[in-house]
Amino acid sequence: MGQDMIELKGVTKQFPGVLANDAIDLSIEEGEIHAIVGENGAGKSTLMKILYGLQQPDKGEIFFRGKAVKISNPSVAINMGIGMVHQHFMLLPSFTVAENIVLGIEPRKRSIFMDYKKAVEITQDLVRTYGLKVEPQLKVRDVSVGIQQRIEILKALHKGADILILDEPTAVLTPQETEELFVVIRKLVKELNKTVIIITHKLQEVMALSHRVSVMRQGKLIGTLETKDASEQIIAEMMVGREVLLEPLEKTTVEGKTILEVNHLKSRDNRGLLALRGVNLHVKEGEILGIAGVEGNGQSELVEALTGLREIESGEVMVFSKNLAGKSPREIRESGIAHVPEDRLITGLSKDATITENMMMGLHDQEPYAKKGIHTNKQTIRQRVETLIKKFDVRTPSQDVLVENLSGGNMQKIVIAREFAFDTPILIISQPTRGVDIGAIEFIHQQIVEKRNEGCAILLISAELDELFRLSDRIITVYEGELTGTFNNGEISKKEIGLYMTGKRKLSKEGGA
Ligand SMILES: Nc1ncnc2c1ncn2[C@@H]1O[C@H](COP(=O)(O)OP(=O)(O)O)[C@@H](O)[C@H]1O
Ligand SMILES: [Mg+2]
Repeated sequence: MGQDMIELKGVTKQFPGVLANDAIDLSIEEGEIHAIVGENGAGKSTLMKILYGLQQPDKGEIFFRGKAVKISNPSVAINMGIGMVHQHFMLLPSFTVAENIVLGIEPRKRSIFMDYKKAVEITQDLVRTYGLKVEPQLKVRDVSVGIQQRIEILKALHKGADILILDEPTAVLTPQETEELFVVIRKLVKELNKTVIIITHKLQEVMALSHRVSVMRQGKLIGTLETKDASEQIIAEMMVGREVLLEPLEKTTVEGKTILEVNHLKSRDNRGLLALRGVNLHVKEGEILGIAGVEGNGQSELVEALTGLREIESGEVMVFSKNLAGKSPREIRESGIAHVPEDRLITGLSKDATITENMMMGLHDQEPYAKKGIHTNKQTIRQRVETLIKKFDVRTPSQDVLVENLSGGNMQKIVIAREFAFDTPILIISQPTRGVDIGAIEFIHQQIVEKRNEGCAILLISAELDELFRLSDRIITVYEGELTGTFNNGEISKKEIGLYMTGKRKLSKEGGA
């Protein structure tokens, strides 16, 4: 590790009503991986946008290799060798991977047309150099989010980035994709002399990856630590300014009656292959049943089948002795199942609608918010939304804000507020805290437990084993569309459960939980 490459001194940025950056001092050393952590709204993205020339500070100075600089726009930053990959990607979906990568500095043929063959070669070279695999000829709209992120990274590297800023890159990735990204980041730093600044919410990632970590809270930089001198506990405390997080929660052994019963459920995935091979399970009132599995073993299909979003081939979904298999999503909700979907930006929310519109989804045409499905009662609606914003601690200046302007944690609180407020006896909750900061995680966990304590039957799907172990009263394991085990919480360790997630069986093939 080397000298200070970048130094920020007293950087301050005021937005209407929020001091997003309050006299920030931060140095970035050449060749380090510097993690920046903080709760949603702490000011991390703003600070990085200032460094990339997308925002101008009101006060403060920036030094680059010891010289004062003014980064008035991103081209200035790019010329200095700074590249940034944003939280929301900025690619052109109908262009190919290669076209996106060279966009802005296209190789030309006879000076006007882009030399497409050259663009493909450039992309292949980049793939070889950096070990980030992409298919140059595919359209961006046909590639996964994880690949889109690689394209953004390659694009920044192609523009000559020596310092790469990654804004919450792992929020959209599966655990495996995250691991792959980290391999590449380490290689960039160790073998290719790059410097990486990474914003993340996940403290395990900070510990695993970074050399130093800076913690922000409410616009201030609380401190910078050598990662080897830090612990998750210390960082978490600096982030939220209060002690002890993620304590174990009280568990129950439930004697209540069964509310949701799934029998011999079969359903196919998008490729037409059997994704659920006869699933049997039940959830009792006042119980959280967690599903543990490596992503892609039928969990998503199960949730979709149970909520009416995926066709069921055979089997039953019994709620209060009524079979809901094959019913519409709306009918299913009205029969007692609310659903927090895994992808809040695709199925959970309408990004370009307001908080109010999103919170009222599914209710806007119902009494008492509307009469005969038309005349809306604005006053009653405002009151309901105001109450939910307070109860679920959504941080926003007003309920008329577009959801796309909120942080991931606040978006998630809106989905949860809306679904929990239906007051259904059954809740299906998928990945409730993906991409959410630690303060909001704690809050969301408490809300889930409160629902359980009120008697709700909860089916919880999460890729985070810590989350499943913390919340579930009972855990089932899935592998290739079948249940492999059922365990009361405390009966099995995280290490041992991994065996059942990869095919070991406690249950017979006909088994249920
Ligand atoms: N363009 C903007 N206009 C007004 N307020 C903004 C803008 N960008 C960010 N903010 C506000 O500044 C604060 C810090 O936001 P941000 O830097 O995005 O935080 P983080 O990335 O740590 O979640 C938040 O309260 C946010 O609402
Ligand atoms: Mg941010």
